[in-house]
Amino acid sequence: PIPVILDCDPGHDDAFTILLAAAHPSVELLAITTVAGNATVEKTSLNARRVCTAAGIRGVPVAAGLAGPLHGAGIVARNIHGESGLDGPGFGEPTVPLDPRDAITLLRETLLAHPGPVTLVPTGPLSNIAAFLLAHPGLAAERVDRIVLMGGSTGRGNRTPAAEFNIAADPEAADIVFSSGLDVTMIGLNVSHQVPAAPGVLTRLEALGTPLARLCVELLTYFGTTYREVFGLAAPPMHDPLTVAHLVDPDLITTVRAPVAVELTGTHTRGATVVDLDGVTGRPANARVGTAVDAPAFWDLIVDAVRVLGER
Ligand code: BDR
Ligand code: CA
Repeated sequence: PIPVILDCDPGHDDAFTILLAAAHPSVELLAITTVAGNATVEKTSLNARRVCTAAGIRGVPVAAGLAGPLHGAGIVARNIHGESGLDGPGFGEPTVPLDPRDAITLLRETLLAHPGPVTLVPTGPLSNIAAFLLAHPGLAAERVDRIVLMGGSTGRGNRTPAAEFNIAADPEAADIVFSSGLDVTMIGLNVSHQVPAAPGVLTRLEALGTPLARLCVELLTYFGTTYREVFGLAAPPMHDPLTVAHLVDPDLITTVRAPVAVELTGTHTRGATVVDLDGVTGRPANARVGTAVDAPAFWDLIVDAVRVLGER
């Protein structure tokens, strides 16, 4: 299996990323680190522990990371994910503990302890990952196999017309990651909007009949309501789990190598990912960029993950 550290800000779609990473036999989930994004880091950490508890995910350390971006003030996505960051279902007190280490220490110690290179999967703002790269560049070069992140877009944004939320929340961190020289794969909004959680998906989950499946339906129902209210979309895009789906099935998402620049200034465009798909800038490619996805195969992975964990 592919050893993975998931860095997330749960978040409804982050929650499904945890489930897929924990359930799929091709992934070895080594650790979960949390970051401020959809909600404060206290809330995203609590939510990660809630999801692990509900899904029976034991023995995967969960550590809290940065409380905000490397520079400037943080943003949250209360309008999409609610006050808790994971509104919708009721959660009991989580039994999965918070690891006493901070996220950067857990990243470092997990990489050092693992015999081979590890894949980092960030599905929130890139603050933790950038802080780790700044603090331990040698270790990262040696022990990080690749970074497969959800963020950015080849076209429109969602936080602003130009910028996607995860990049808008910490553009400097995103710039550090894209400039790192590491093997970076970007799965952006242009891909995630190809996998809306349509009613048929909720029906399939409902039919599983387990408490976990019920919880997943409640998550997607809430997520669907806010997406309808805020963006007028019929169904919410399932952004984050595309990262893990790409890892377990490399044919699922089409990628192209391209230069990606993060807009750090810009009057109206700070946080935009400027992706040169046509090679007009002459800059060297620094990332693989997702362009298309086999949506039915993606949903099979999600439904199967919820089934497997629900039956454990
Ligand atoms: C990204 O922003 C967050 O709200 C989601 O969890 C996802 O990571 C989509 O723009
Ligand atoms: Ca996220």
